[in-house]
Amino acid sequence: QVIRREDYTAPAFLIETVELVFDLDREATIVASRLSLVANPERGTGAGDMVSLDGEDMKLLSLKVDGVALPADAYEVDTTGLRFKAPSERFVVEIETRISPVNNTRLEGLYVSQSAYCTQCEAEGFRRITYFMDRPDVMATYRVTINAPRESCPVLLSNGNLVSSTDLEDGRHQAVWDDPFPKPCYLFALVAGDLACVEDSFKTMSGRDVALRIFVEHGNEDRCDYAMDSLKRAMKWDEDVYGLEYDLDLFNIVAVSDFNMGAMENKSLNVFNAKYILAKSDTATDTDYELIESIVAHEYFHNWSGNRVTCRDWFQLSLKEGLTVFRDQEFSSDQRSRPVQRINDVQRLRAGQFPEDGGPLAHPVRPDSYIEINNFYTATVYQKGAEVIRMMHTLLGAEGYRKGIDLYFERHDGQAVTCDDFVRAMEDANGVNFDQFRLWYSQAGTPNLVWEGNYDADKKVFCLTIEQKTEPTPGQTLKSDLQMPVKIGLLARDGRELHAQTIDLTQAKQDFLFEDIAEQPVVSFNRDFSAPVNVGTTPSHDDLAFLMGNDTDAFNRWEAGQKYASDLLIAAVRAYDKSGDADAALGNVDAFCDALRATLTNDDLDKAFRAQAMILPGEAMLAEQLRPADPEAIYQVRQALRQKVAIALQDEFEAAYRHNASNDAYSPDATSAGQRALRAVALSYLAATGEGVFIDLALAQYRTADNMTDRMAALTVLNNQDHPGREEALADFESRFANDTVVIDKWFSLQAMSSRTDTLEQIKKLMEHPAFTMRNPNKVRALVGTFAMANQRNFHAADGRGYAFYADRLMELDNLNPQVAARLAAPLGKWRKFDEDRASKMKAELKRILAKENLSRDLYEIASKSIAD
Ligand code: ARG
Ligand code: ZN
Repeated sequence: QVIRREDYTAPAFLIETVELVFDLDREATIVASRLSLVANPERGTGAGDMVSLDGEDMKLLSLKVDGVALPADAYEVDTTGLRFKAPSERFVVEIETRISPVNNTRLEGLYVSQSAYCTQCEAEGFRRITYFMDRPDVMATYRVTINAPRESCPVLLSNGNLVSSTDLEDGRHQAVWDDPFPKPCYLFALVAGDLACVEDSFKTMSGRDVALRIFVEHGNEDRCDYAMDSLKRAMKWDEDVYGLEYDLDLFNIVAVSDFNMGAMENKSLNVFNAKYILAKSDTATDTDYELIESIVAHEYFHNWSGNRVTCRDWFQLSLKEGLTVFRDQEFSSDQRSRPVQRINDVQRLRAGQFPEDGGPLAHPVRPDSYIEINNFYTATVYQKGAEVIRMMHTLLGAEGYRKGIDLYFERHDGQAVTCDDFVRAMEDANGVNFDQFRLWYSQAGTPNLVWEGNYDADKKVFCLTIEQKTEPTPGQTLKSDLQMPVKIGLLARDGRELHAQTIDLTQAKQDFLFEDIAEQPVVSFNRDFSAPVNVGTTPSHDDLAFLMGNDTDAFNRWEAGQKYASDLLIAAVRAYDKSGDADAALGNVDAFCDALRATLTNDDLDKAFRAQAMILPGEAMLAEQLRPADPEAIYQVRQALRQKVAIALQDEFEAAYRHNASNDAYSPDATSAGQRALRAVALSYLAATGEGVFIDLALAQYRTADNMTDRMAALTVLNNQDHPGREEALADFESRFANDTVVIDKWFSLQAMSSRTDTLEQIKKLMEHPAFTMRNPNKVRALVGTFAMANQRNFHAADGRGYAFYADRLMELDNLNPQVAARLAAPLGKWRKFDEDRASKMKAELKRILAKENLSRDLYEIASKSIAD
């Protein structure tokens, strides 16, 4: 059943207050709900109109309206919900239901993770707890009573303020929570269990003292410092940059091991996937620390962008997600190196969103229809949505953007609104018209830009011609021209910047004239990735090498290196397909190596940046640019270029490896992390020379590492080798961390990533490992998901065994947790990019999935859209 944006109607009734009483039991939890309903004046409804409540997977025990039990013929209940006629314009509904948390393998609604109860309600999990109008435009205040055994559940949490804690009979106790802020039910949360607590506090700008608590499994108390510190920095940043202050006296975070996504912004009770909270130096890498910082901030920022102002309907998801991602990206940029952060964010956009936008699952930032909303928590809604906000920030400037934000929160606090309302606030606060810009919300597909420069030496005028075009996407054949800010720089041959400007591109083809340009300039195009587009124009290798060394925009220095490498690799893949000789296919790459050397040895540049600049475009990224893509050829050619670079720069890599060793105690700060990153890149290239001494070096680093970053860097190198050191290090890692559910996932995913040709066999064996289970999403993503998402070579092995294995796992998972199964299914939909043989094997697997008995709506939507021609 397809849900369409154009069909939106306001709810027939509103819910003003919700009182919930939970009697917790793993097998049979009783939920009593008391709702005060009122007819929606906007709809003119009243007595006799149908009240329709959503509900799934639970047992209705009793139903009363205005205190009287409804006779069986006065209501209708089925597997999707409950319906009855309103007695008047204002009435009270009381409902009792029974649910079974321990049997909830979908991890939506109320479920059990390890020993604790927890909830996940976004997008539509609340309807698995009780019958309700499960839609974000129904906002109510909640009072929640939790009854549970004191011994197994000493901690009882819900949203808002704790009103009372009482002892009950039979070893049970009770907590009552009250949330004064009206909220949609997707922000409801409940947690109960035997959890440890780490506590701190924050004083807000108006002087309110907020208690900050992080709840974790016992034994993990020493892994919360970084998350807590990130939270305090995020709270301060939101005050400084957005003028937004926290609004309650308590802010709770709970880390759980079983979680479908990254984290959830429930009002004052954020629930996190434990991997995005827990960190100490010997269990978490620098990248883990970065992710913790940004996700803790992201969920905190939702308190305003999402909770105080929420979405009218789920088509508007990017209203809160695009904005909040932009906010967390900017927070991280201010905490760390801005260019490195931008490079990471763009890489993520290119790796995740561009393929989505160019494939069968393409959809606008504000989708027009869906079958299962959980399938729309996508890179397009999140990452592209953030780029759209970023473009408004660029077009309006920081001050104009802030004016728009202030107006948005002033106008809409306490409301459920649309993406359009957000844009209108930006327009009204700045007196601009964004009619054309709005198309970014409705039009799918990544625009392609090409440019051409013409210099008139006599007049000293430079003319830049830019053309834009967006290819058709499924269901959207006609595309319009978009408005976008394109930052450019014109550079003199000696590296001086002659001119820099933000161009406002609005037409299909547009000329821009620049006067008083003293010499033929080198163009630095789309600086800082100001517009989220593909740029089809590739400058000459000379110009790219020049930009790598001289561009005053750090992002484009990196970008020039990527373009240069892609150009070499793509030409070589084409040549390899004929000759089968990767070295010969690459030819002479000395000039490229010289340009990389200049970056590697430039001590004026940030080490994190230099490390980034050494990394060649990934195999998946290259496959995107080739049609058909030959994964084996891509792998061989990329390895060959790595080896050539490694040999050419061996001395410099050895020096970088030596000079970046550190005797200081581990610190997760950006500078230290940059130093470790550069050293890791050096080690990885040294191993790529093919000389055994460097494998020994990696093994030595593994043995002596005193932090997880260095340990994983060494293990990553060993993981692709045929060397006894690999077995030794993997076995050591296993014995150290087998009982550490967060850390052992690194060990699973690393092996799933190995380029060795026995990887699939290894994965099958690892599925029998005692630490592995299909019931834990992190485990499935680490071992199974990684194989399809990060192992091009083996997933696409020509015999098709990778595809078959993968489809089997998706079907197995679909029976347990359809949401996670669907989220992992996209790789099989990439068949159009590959040769006929692979394409037909991938399609056959999709057909097999579509023929499965009891196929979920979630997986059906992805598989059916993926197979459509
Ligand atoms: N709102 C959460 C976040 O981005 C994501 C949770 C979505 N969960 C889901 N099952 N669709 O912070
Ligand atoms: Zn979010």
